[in-house]
Amino acid sequence: MSDKTFTTLLLGDVYGDPGCRVLYLKLSTLIKKYRADFVVVNGENAFKGFGLIPGQVDMLFGLGVDVITSGNHIWQQEEILPYLDSQNNLLRPANYGNLVQGHGYTVKDGVCVMNLQGRVNMFPIEDPFKWATDILKKLDSRVKTIFVDFHAESPEEKEAMGFFLDGKVTAVVGTHIHVQTMDEKILPNGTAYITDLGMCGPKDSIIGSDPELAIRRQLTQMPLKAQVHDNVAEIHGVCIKSDPDTGKAISIERIDG
Ligand SMILES: [Fe+2]
Repeated sequence: MSDKTFTTLLLGDVYGDPGCRVLYLKLSTLIKKYRADFVVVNGENAFKGFGLIPGQVDMLFGLGVDVITSGNHIWQQEEILPYLDSQNNLLRPANYGNLVQGHGYTVKDGVCVMNLQGRVNMFPIEDPFKWATDILKKLDSRVKTIFVDFHAESPEEKEAMGFFLDGKVTAVVGTHIHVQTMDEKILPNGTAYITDLGMCGPKDSIIGSDPELAIRRQLTQMPLKAQVHDNVAEIHGVCIKSDPDTGKAISIERIDG
């Protein structure tokens, strides 16, 4: 094993202005605290809960984020579409296929980040397991440190992806649920795993949204559009230490608040 460990922060879905604000205020302290070498953030809810815009991408990169991942909401702000093509380190799920803008994986400073999306209770896009396999085949064999953001609803599908890629990637982390799970672990063949990172978003909200409106949606079953709950926000995610020579995970620790 190498003397040096590689330390990565992977943070959950940035939700609205409160989520952007908390990263603006606290990310540099967090990077110092964990001595992070690399930072990955899922940005798909940064713009009022629906997608993100180029200025927010620039802001996140300016704060020290290396790669921004996303998910089903990435398409909602039209101005992001050309940015998906021009920014190598801004990702959309790979398994949307080749007919849409952008790309689903990147290699930055020798580290690969891959973005995939689940299909259970979500859009029936292309097979994420096949896409993961194909992307791994394309990577230079010198790329050992590989992170997968699996943006998905179903814990079963997410655990299946974790075990499917166990030993082949450094970590599989879930996003999309906005509620952090407590099942962080190292799988038998050395891949770190958590079902969901949680979100960087407002406290006392309903997955980021204003509680009163979210309750009204349940009571009436009307398609009321979620509104960001304007409150102080918390940061959720994980810190993963890995061996840069093998890409195997050494530890995974939850970041909660
Ligand atoms: Fe999502």
